[in-house]
Amino acid sequence: MSEILTSDRRMQDLIQLAKTVASSKATVMIQGESGTGKELMANLIHIHSTRATRPFVAINCAAIPENLLESELFGYERGAFTGAVTSKAGKFEFANSGTLLLDEISEMDIRLQAKLLRVIQEGEIDRIGGRKPVSVDVRIIATTNRNLGDCVKEGKFREDLFYRLNVVNLTLPPLRERIGDVKLMSFHFMSQYAQKNGKTLIDITPSALGLLNSHTWPGNVRELENVIERAVITAKEGVITESEIYIERQNNSQLELEKLNWVPGKTLNDIERNVILEALQYHHGNRTHTARALGISIRTLRNKLADYRKLGIHA
Ligand SMILES: Nc1ncnc2c1ncn2[C@@H]1O[C@H](COP(=O)(O)OP(=O)(O)O)[C@@H](O)[C@H]1O
Ligand SMILES: [Mg+2]
Repeated sequence: MSEILTSDRRMQDLIQLAKTVASSKATVMIQGESGTGKELMANLIHIHSTRATRPFVAINCAAIPENLLESELFGYERGAFTGAVTSKAGKFEFANSGTLLLDEISEMDIRLQAKLLRVIQEGEIDRIGGRKPVSVDVRIIATTNRNLGDCVKEGKFREDLFYRLNVVNLTLPPLRERIGDVKLMSFHFMSQYAQKNGKTLIDITPSALGLLNSHTWPGNVRELENVIERAVITAKEGVITESEIYIERQNNSQLELEKLNWVPGKTLNDIERNVILEALQYHHGNRTHTARALGISIRTLRNKLADYRKLGIHA
């Protein structure tokens, strides 16, 4: 897995915290929107732990049907149910003395949550149809893209399990709240995909970069990676221009609103920047009109736009 790239202070603090807690056996909860790097962060914890040479096993609780999830996690003995013609170890046993990543834990059904809680408390699992419990030493990392606290309030997630899993909480900010990372990661993915496709890529135009910077990235880093991959493949003469940037058009007014409202983790500067860029767009780039509409001097506006340009954001 690749390294976590970031120029964002909050992300850097989270990486530091992840490395610090890595050496303990503490259960870690990684929260964040899809594509923010939760799996990458889980892997970072594993490779910085004393378990690094042992298995890192991941299971996606949302992708596996409910009835299969239990046997995938805990394994089964021969004849435990119709079709169990041989016995099979579960992910807990495979991850023994290593790390088990429970991806999208919020999707685990409440009955299985009870079993998971027991495993965490007792340090042993019961294979389905097994006669005696099996001891396991597993470090658990869980991820969720939903607010698990809300799931608890809605009665969909056990409160006791929540506290067991949430010993250390790492909440990853969405890409739109660390817009400086867009440029950094764009260049990273550009060279990665240029190499992969045998292309010599030298640059991206400021306006193409501007498009990337003004997008709200609902799919976060994963979406950016896809956009860059496609741009690299279609780029002519080693330069990515606006016409190679295919971004899903967002007519989602909710997202537009979110850009302007405060959400946890967003600074006043982030909001101000969005408001200024929005107003500038409304006034077709006319700075005099924009400054007047916002009640600031043209000089202030010019200075702020210059600051944004340093972040790679071209209005
Ligand atoms: N900070 C980062 N630096 C480099 N690559 C990243 C970063 N964050 C995410 N990625 C890449 O983006 C993709 C999605 O990351 P992933 O960890 O699977 O996200 P999540 O589990 O939150 O959905 C992966 O290909 C991953 O390598
Ligand atoms: Mg994931």
